[in-house]
Amino acid sequence: MTKVLVATEKPFSRVAVEGIKEVTDAAGYELALLEKYTDKGQLLQAVADADALIVRSDKVDADVLAAAKKLKIVVRAGAGFDNLDLKACTAHNVVAMNTPGQNANSVAELVFGLLVFCVRNFFNGSSGTELKGKKLGILAFGNVGRNVARIAKGFGMEVCAFDAYCPASVIEEAGVKAVPDQETLFDECDIVSLHIPATPETLKSINKALVGRMRKGGILVNTARKEVVDEEGLLSLMQERADLRYLTDIKPDTDAAFSEKCAGRYFATPKKMGAQTAEANANAGVAAAKQIVGFLKEGITKYQLNK
Ligand code: 3PG
Repeated sequence: MTKVLVATEKPFSRVAVEGIKEVTDAAGYELALLEKYTDKGQLLQAVADADALIVRSDKVDADVLAAAKKLKIVVRAGAGFDNLDLKACTAHNVVAMNTPGQNANSVAELVFGLLVFCVRNFFNGSSGTELKGKKLGILAFGNVGRNVARIAKGFGMEVCAFDAYCPASVIEEAGVKAVPDQETLFDECDIVSLHIPATPETLKSINKALVGRMRKGGILVNTARKEVVDEEGLLSLMQERADLRYLTDIKPDTDAAFSEKCAGRYFATPKKMGAQTAEANANAGVAAAKQIVGFLKEGITKYQLNK
């Protein structure tokens, strides 16, 4: 019997797991769950007899693929696939996919949760500010960036965006001002929200010089990846500029230093929360299960990443 393993260090909601099970049951597949695992050994053991694998940010590297002797497909239930070693997947004849867009609204809503929390001074009772009328810069206009733009308009914000891979005309069609480069975005906006993937190109690209261009009182929001931010540079900048604030959904390696040196201007969620809603889990989890069935039964390779 075909076996689908859901391996999630950070588990899906129950409703998502039930949704996945409905899809695998209908296909006549067996579903196995490995949740909240604490060491890689547990994952290596669990993948041994799996034909298909669903993960979130769980690392699927050469060791995992070597241990997964029967594996034909791995689906990252989510957008960012920097946790999948695509070369190793190809080398092991494993098709790798993601589920783009399925958790985008959830991540976008969190951006505004973090922002309201911040501009109301972390709910400490003192007088804060509003988002209405502020200029928001969206760095990368993919599925999350587009949802952020939609919600920002509801707040009455002015919205700008830059995306190195998305034409300005597409951004403008969405009613958002396209700026020519990321420097302009940081120059012109009160708040910049990061939605770039972690790639060799974007690694530490959000650095001291770039963030240092922000206006007085600037806020940087990161619901993307910690790897895109030059943490040391940002920390040094925030010590020089006591007006800047940093909100992140991905705890930096230097979290303790940020908390100590930028108290009252820094907030990191304890665990990545962006996609952590019942809706996002169900959307991404069920999409992943359907993509597995589509591939195994009909050879459908839409969303394959290692073509
Ligand atoms: C994504 O890339 O889809 C998001 O960062 C969500 O990641 P998660 O599934 O680990 O919460």
